Amino acid sequence: MKILVLSFFCYFFFFFFTPSLCRVPSETQLVTEPEHASTPPRGWNSYDSFCWTISEEEFLQSAEIVSNRLKPHGYEYVVVDYLWYRRKVEGAYTDSLGFDVIDEWGRPIPDPERWPSSKGGKGFSEVAKKVHSMGLKFGIHVMRGISLQAFNANTPIFDSVKGSAYKESGRQWRAKDIGLKERACAWMSHGFMSVNTNQEAGRAFLRSLYLQYAEWGVDFVKHDCVFGDDLDIDEITFVSEVLRKLDRPILYSLSPGASATPAMAKDVSELVNMYRITGDDWDTWRDVVSHFDISRDFSTSKMIGAKGLLGRSWPDLDMLPLGWLTDPGSNEGPHRLCNLNLDEQRTQMTLWAMAKSPLMFGGDVRKLDETTYNLITNPTLLEINSFSSNNMEFRYITGTEGSTSKNKVLSKDLAEGSILDRRALGLSVCMDPKANGWSIKALDQDLEKICWKEKLGSKFEEPPCLYKRKPLLASGEEMIYKQQYEGTLHLLASDGMELCFDGSPRRRLTSKEFGGGSFSPCKMDANQMWELNANGSLINSYSGLCATVGSLEADVDSSGTRSWIATGIRGEIYLAFFNLNPEKIVISANVADLSKVLPWKNLKGASCKYREIWSGNYGVTKQLISIAVERHGSALFVLLCD
Ligand SMILES: *[C@@H]1O[C@H](CO)[C@@H](O)[C@H](O)[C@H]1NC(C)=O
Repeated sequence: MKILVLSFFCYFFFFFFTPSLCRVPSETQLVTEPEHASTPPRGWNSYDSFCWTISEEEFLQSAEIVSNRLKPHGYEYVVVDYLWYRRKVEGAYTDSLGFDVIDEWGRPIPDPERWPSSKGGKGFSEVAKKVHSMGLKFGIHVMRGISLQAFNANTPIFDSVKGSAYKESGRQWRAKDIGLKERACAWMSHGFMSVNTNQEAGRAFLRSLYLQYAEWGVDFVKHDCVFGDDLDIDEITFVSEVLRKLDRPILYSLSPGASATPAMAKDVSELVNMYRITGDDWDTWRDVVSHFDISRDFSTSKMIGAKGLLGRSWPDLDMLPLGWLTDPGSNEGPHRLCNLNLDEQRTQMTLWAMAKSPLMFGGDVRKLDETTYNLITNPTLLEINSFSSNNMEFRYITGTEGSTSKNKVLSKDLAEGSILDRRALGLSVCMDPKANGWSIKALDQDLEKICWKEKLGSKFEEPPCLYKRKPLLASGEEMIYKQQYEGTLHLLASDGMELCFDGSPRRRLTSKEFGGGSFSPCKMDANQMWELNANGSLINSYSGLCATVGSLEADVDSSGTRSWIATGIRGEIYLAFFNLNPEKIVISANVADLSKVLPWKNLKGASCKYREIWSGNYGVTKQLISIAVERHGSALFVLLCD
C-alpha cells in the first residue's frame, strides 16, 4: 500500500523533487530479477588513481569510504587492478620481468610487502573478509594464461582435483609444457602468455588459478588481454566454465576491448557479465568522443543487458577517470586532477548512464570532492543506468548556430593526436563482409603489395597498401615457422622499412600516450603473421581476426550533435542531447518524432512535462524540446507525456 501511494506521489511530483525518493524499493527488484548482474555492475577500481602501486592499507581505507559514501548509491564492488603480485622496487614497471611473487605452482600471489595480510599463504582471504564485513564485494584483475616468470622457472602444475602435482601417465607436467610463448600478451610481452587449453594440463593450470581466487573469497574477476585485439576465446570459454561450476557466483569481466565489434561480442557475451568495448578510457575529450559510435553499435545490435554468465552481460565503456587521478602506466599513486571540465564530465556520465555501461569510479575516494561526488551519485543518472530500457541513439535532432563550420573545427580538434592511426587500421571478425577489402597488386617480379579497396578520404590520394614478404626469421625459428605459420606473411608499412603491421597494436588505443599506431619492429610473433584469404580478408594468426580500414571522413561525421533516448519504469522518456562541437549549439527535437523510435507511445498531440537535470529547468511543451548546449556539454530531459 505504501509503495502504491509513493508511486502515485512520484508520478505527479517527481519533476519538482529529487527522484531518489521515487526509487523502486530494492526488495521488489530482488523478487523480480534474481539473476546475476541483473543491472550494470557498479563499484570502484584502483587503476585510474593508483595504477598498479596500491597497498593493502590504501585499498582498505578506500573500501571503507566506498562503503560509507558510495554504497548507498549502488557502488558495491571494490576492485584491485593489475600487478598486485609485483614487488614495488627499483626497476619494476608494467612490462618488467622477474619482479613477481609466484607460489610453487607458478600462480601469482599478492606481494607480501604491499599486502601484509597475505603472508603465510593466505592470499587475499583476509582482505576479502574485511571487504565483505563492510558490506561490499571484492574484485581482482587477472592476466591471461601463465606468467613468463613461471614459464622460465618451469614450475609444476597444481591439480586442484587431486590436491597434488598434475600428472598424466606418470609424468609430471610443468609450465613449459603448457605455455604458448609465441602468444605472449601483446601489450605486456614480458608478463604473460596464453596456455594451451587443448591440453588437460593447460586446463588444470587455469582451474588451479580460479579455484584459488574463489577460495580467497573473490567476487569479481577482471580478465585482461583476452578480448578485443587480444582475443583468446578458448581461455574465456574455459574460465567461464570453471566459474559456472562454483557454489557461489563470481562476476566475470573482460578488459580491455580495443577493436571489439558486436559480432565478436556475440561469441562471448553469454560467457561473461561485462566486457569492454573500447581501449582504455582516460580523461581526454578525444577519449570521451570515441565512445559514442561504439555504444550506438552495441545498442543497435541488442547487446545491452543480453544473456550472460548466470544472468546478464553488459558492454563496458571503462572506468570513470574523474576526480583525483594518476597517469596511465605510471609507477605513482594519485597526484593530479581530472583534465575534463564539468561539461565534459557530465557528457561522459550521461553517455555511460544512457548506454547502461557498468559504472566503475576510478578517482581517489579519499579525496573525493563534492562536485565529483554529486556527479557520480546523481539520482537521475543512476536510475537511468540501472532501470531504463529501449536505450538507443536518437537521430531526429537538429543543431543550429555555427553548425556549418563544425566539421572543420572538429577535425582540427581531433587531429592533434592519433585519430588517423586509430581509424585507419582496425580488426573485426572475418565473417564480417566489411573485412573483405584486400587484394594483391604486383609491383615487379619480387615485390607485391596488398592494398585496401578504397581511399581513406580526401586527405589520401591513394588507397593504403602494405608490402608483402615472408617473415624474417632468426636461424632457430625456421622450424616453428614451418610448423605453425607456413604461408603467412609479414606486412611492411612501406618498402624497405623494417616496421611490420601488428594485429594487436596497443591496447590503450583511445589515449594519447599510446596512440602510436599499428606498426612495430618486425619479429617472429604471431601478432605480425597475416594470411590473405581468397575472399579478400586478411587474417591475423594471433587472434584469428581480420584487418579492416576505416575512413577518416567517418570520424568527422561522428562529430556534431548526438542524442540518446530511453524509457523509464514509470512511463518517463529520457532524452539526452550531446554537443561534441567546440562551440555552443542549440539542439532541438520534436515531441512527435519521439514516437518514430518509441512507436507504442502515442505522442500525436501529446503534451509533455519536462525537467532538464543540469539546469533544473522545467515546463510543459507540445512541440519542440530545445536547449542551448555548451561546447562538449550535454542536456538530459526527463519527460512525461500524455
Ligand atoms: C572469407 O574467407 C575466410 C576464410 O575462408 C572465412 O573465414 C571468412 O568467413 C570469409 N568472409 C566472408 C565475409 O565471407
